[in-house]
Amino acid sequence: MASDQLVEVRHLKQYFPVSGDGFFSRNWVKAVDDVSFSIPRGSTLGLVGESGCGKTTTGRTLLRLYEPTSGRIVYDGETIFDSGDVPLYDERGSVVTDKEGKPKYGKKTKVSMLPYRRKMQIIFQDPYASLDPRMTIGDIVGEAIDIHHLASSQEERREKIIRMLERVGLNSEHANRYPHEFSGGQRQRVGIARALAVDPEFIVCDEPISALDVSIQAQVINMLEDLQGEFGLTYLFIAHDLSVVKHISKRIGVMYLGKLVEMGDSNEITFHSCHPYTKSLISAIPIADPETSRNTHRIVLQGDIPSPVNPPSGCRFRTRCPYAEKCCAEREPEWKEVGPGHFCACHFADRFR
Ligand SMILES: Nc1ncnc2c1ncn2[C@@H]1O[C@H](COP(=O)(O)OP(=O)(O)O)[C@@H](O)[C@H]1O
Ligand SMILES: [Mg+2]
Repeated sequence: MASDQLVEVRHLKQYFPVSGDGFFSRNWVKAVDDVSFSIPRGSTLGLVGESGCGKTTTGRTLLRLYEPTSGRIVYDGETIFDSGDVPLYDERGSVVTDKEGKPKYGKKTKVSMLPYRRKMQIIFQDPYASLDPRMTIGDIVGEAIDIHHLASSQEERREKIIRMLERVGLNSEHANRYPHEFSGGQRQRVGIARALAVDPEFIVCDEPISALDVSIQAQVINMLEDLQGEFGLTYLFIAHDLSVVKHISKRIGVMYLGKLVEMGDSNEITFHSCHPYTKSLISAIPIADPETSRNTHRIVLQGDIPSPVNPPSGCRFRTRCPYAEKCCAEREPEWKEVGPGHFCACHFADRFR
């Protein structure tokens, strides 16, 4: 049965060994630590959180640019990775059990990513670092077409390149120029053209506008939205700023120190968030934004994010949470459904609703 979820991620973990550690020591950067979400076909999931909370690692692990430490990744109904120790879930999200009521687990799986490399693309945060300075714009876009054998002649290749450049607001004259001749915004358009050139279905947009001038951020966002409609694309849209994702995303997931702390429809997260961390992100949106200023309960966070090597016990946010109590250090909060499709991991979620 075809699922309407294009992407499903269950209990995804990505631990990096701490560099400089001895061979036998077991210290890990828990960059992504048990993250689950799904993205319906044609829709956008926004992923927000401060720098270093694991957004990029989530996106890259999902594309298997990094091999997952554990978890399950299902793409278009096909399991492309399963560590074999993750329970199976039914459509309603309940664990599938055997006759004795014990959970059933998925089968250990690791498929070749070759057929998926074309369908699953990424747009990088830094349009300066992500384009080879020695290649022309035309060849950067053309390379993607070559790798996936998507043009049967030079003529067809050239046509495709021009069509893609034009679709992102550039033109045929740009094809023979080099990245250094372009502005940040234009470079990001090249990055988008490169991702689009291979007819993808799913794109991880990793902070595609955060390195760009404020004046052109909206243009690029609008373009990504138009392209989504035109090509039926599904996005995982990463940003550190909630105000950027709330317009483009149907649903939003909020990450803190390797974990999702809250997830729900964009409006629900913006106006009825029930995690103090999400509220602090909303507080960070300038009050001049009339929509969010209604959400008047302002929280300004103190201190830095703790190290993902030794995260705090219990709730990872407790060391910066103005409402933390004793139980927050003792027990990790459950991931509870607090409203239809709205999930939150806070012992006091009800209090903040
Ligand atoms: N390749 C890597 N090796 C080791 N640690 C990494 C690697 N990539 C990211 N990290 C660490 O994982 C954590 C999450 O990083 P990242 O996913 O880049 O966060 P974000 O994109 O939210 O800023 C950070 O502590 C970062 O230093
Ligand atoms: Mg990042």
